[in-house]
Amino acid sequence: MIATELPSTSSEISRALRDIYPHVGRFERLLLRWRPYICPFHKILARVPPDSCTVLDVGCGIGIVSCLLAIFGQQSRFRRIVAFDVSKDAIRTAKQAKLRLGNSVDFQTVEKTSPWPEGPFDTVLCIDVIHHVRADEQNGFVARLTSCCHEGSTLIIKDISPTPWWKAIMNFLHDLFLSRQLVHHRKEQEIASWLEQLGMRVIENSRQDQLWYSHYLIVARNKSS
Ligand SMILES: C[S@@+](CC[C@H](N)C(=O)[O-])C[C@H]1O[C@@H](n2cnc3c(N)ncnc32)[C@H](O)[C@@H]1O
Repeated sequence: MIATELPSTSSEISRALRDIYPHVGRFERLLLRWRPYICPFHKILARVPPDSCTVLDVGCGIGIVSCLLAIFGQQSRFRRIVAFDVSKDAIRTAKQAKLRLGNSVDFQTVEKTSPWPEGPFDTVLCIDVIHHVRADEQNGFVARLTSCCHEGSTLIIKDISPTPWWKAIMNFLHDLFLSRQLVHHRKEQEIASWLEQLGMRVIENSRQDQLWYSHYLIVARNKSS
């Protein structure tokens, strides 16, 4: 296995995704090519602590972040990456991802109300999932995320922000036309305050807007660590 640095620019990630997903259709390939320019994957990867060995990717979709971590993480890092999603189709595509010899990700389909994979996990990722969870279920969903974190683990949440309103409309239209789903926006301040109430220490709550899309990135750790 070749140990290399995590990609640090949108264009590097775009190129990597072309190699990881040669099996997807033409339209999906086009989306994969451009998504790194509207979603700050490189900023997410940069927040994964270098001493993380075990990673849980909640709502992984086709597994973009997990595959990037598996391929580009240093040889000794990420001994176990578990990634799950409610979508069987997404997990089927994820399982076909072209990883380098020796890399692996444990992709699983998990029903909405089923138990999540057993930890402990050093890093828990939740990328662009919360806005797909019904507004009245989001608090409970965030509580589930924190329950996967042991003392010292890191929770990284990236999602779309409802402010400013015109960028929120762009997010809304994007998901309506590309995923045919309604978005359930939630202010990042509210997510951060839930995390604090749940015993996490928010160490970063930043805006990571790209083009006309508004993103926030929250990094939280156990208060005890
Ligand atoms: C916009 S996609 C993001 C996928 C991936 N995290 C990424 O950034 O490429 C949102 C994903 O969340 C998944 N999802 C929605 N609700 C979920 C839930 N309750 N549990 C697990 N996955 C969920 C959807 O099936 C979808 O694949």
